[in-house]
Amino acid sequence: MIEYLWPTPVLKDTAPWIQSEMDELRRYTVERFHDHKTNPPVHGLPDVDVRLRVQLNLFHAHHEAHAPAVWHPWKLWVESTYRNYLLEAHGVRNAQELKIEARCIPVHYLPGMRAQPHYHHTCDHVLCLYLDCGQGRSPPEQRSWTVGDGELILQDPRPMAGFPFWEKVRYIETFPGLVVLHPSRIWHETNPFNAQGERTLLVVTLRVASHNYSDLYTELKGEASCH
Ligand SMILES: [Fe+2]
Repeated sequence: MIEYLWPTPVLKDTAPWIQSEMDELRRYTVERFHDHKTNPPVHGLPDVDVRLRVQLNLFHAHHEAHAPAVWHPWKLWVESTYRNYLLEAHGVRNAQELKIEARCIPVHYLPGMRAQPHYHHTCDHVLCLYLDCGQGRSPPEQRSWTVGDGELILQDPRPMAGFPFWEKVRYIETFPGLVVLHPSRIWHETNPFNAQGERTLLVVTLRVASHNYSDLYTELKGEASCH
């Protein structure tokens, strides 16, 4: 279901896989996360000071060689969900023809950890699949909103008038199987993971790589071609 928060189409769904398949995805996500920590890849990306936790893509063949059976259906489902979203939310009539690129990131939190406020700057949309939200969580209706427990918080992208901010942010309760797809540039964060156990999710950043006239652009780099 796509809900229009402010002018922002946000898809919420539940994953279509049975428990054993979700467990396979969760185990693989945790295993790849730790593999990345112990074997950081050699690449040309700068080591920026915001402490990026992971610079990898589980859709690379290097990682998919280790993936469980559910990985292929998961990847196909991401693609079809995104194409359908582009058609329904943005009216992209030829959504089925677009060249789409994706990066799949394993996210793994221990109690007390959270996602800082951020947006995603290399893509158009972000899809999250929650695989593990820990144990011993307080029911949302009994939870102090000043503390929270792992809720995804989306912020109204519009500049605001004299109006209380807490009526403008949207909290999304997270649970295993939840899927959320939202525009990548919207500021978002999560409340700290205050339960026990582990919090595990797969994040897919998605971008449209065709039909966007990007080939028309040239780089500005302090020089001009002279006659
Ligand atoms: Fe994010």
